[in-house]
Amino acid sequence: MSDIVWHQHSIDQESRALLKGQSPVLLWFTGLSGSGKSTLAGALERALYDAGFHTYLLDGDNVRHGLCKDLGFSADDRDENLRRVGEVAKLMVDAGLVVLSAFISPTKEERERVRGLFDEGRFIEVHVSTPIEVCEARDPKGLYKKARAGEIKDFTGISAPYETPTAAELTIDTNKGDLASQVSALLDYLAAIQVID
Ligand code: PPS
Repeated sequence: MSDIVWHQHSIDQESRALLKGQSPVLLWFTGLSGSGKSTLAGALERALYDAGFHTYLLDGDNVRHGLCKDLGFSADDRDENLRRVGEVAKLMVDAGLVVLSAFISPTKEERERVRGLFDEGRFIEVHVSTPIEVCEARDPKGLYKKARAGEIKDFTGISAPYETPTAAELTIDTNKGDLASQVSALLDYLAAIQVID
């Protein structure tokens, strides 16, 4: 590793972002399975896209079909999953995109490690704080039922931990209000920090 030297290319993040006329950021959605991360991130991406922003949504379920298909849900595998996703998101932000990601990302350490890859203000943590009772009642994929029956091990919130964020930029409980008002709250925040007008 010590023989590998970083090459500073002439076109940097700022030039790429300038070309796109947007301020690149990563919106990192974290929360339990079934909390509404993907729905919320997807709806926000749609609103941003319709407003002319160049976006990309990295989604846990999808990434695990390709980039991370060799990984399971042990603590080590989740750690590696989130390390890879963080690095990919960094490249995308570097390319000038407005990136959204929806991963459980259960530990504070993993989330902070991703935050540490970004310049101040470019990493926005969104805690999707929907209570576990609500997530379990929704159970859109029947996974909580299987986890309770012992058919899935290391299931977040049941047999594996989820550390509640303490310093997220935004907290949204998808059980309160409707999707449109939740997206509005996100857009208001992005306007306040001048990512959008
Ligand atoms: S992690 O912890 O951040 O690496 O997880 P992530 O990549 O976001 O994957 C979460 C989705 O995988 C499904 N799934 C599980 N979740 C939690 N624990 C276990 N054991 C598990 N097995 C499969 C689940 O559908 C998650 O999707 P979401 O969209 O979060 O409900």
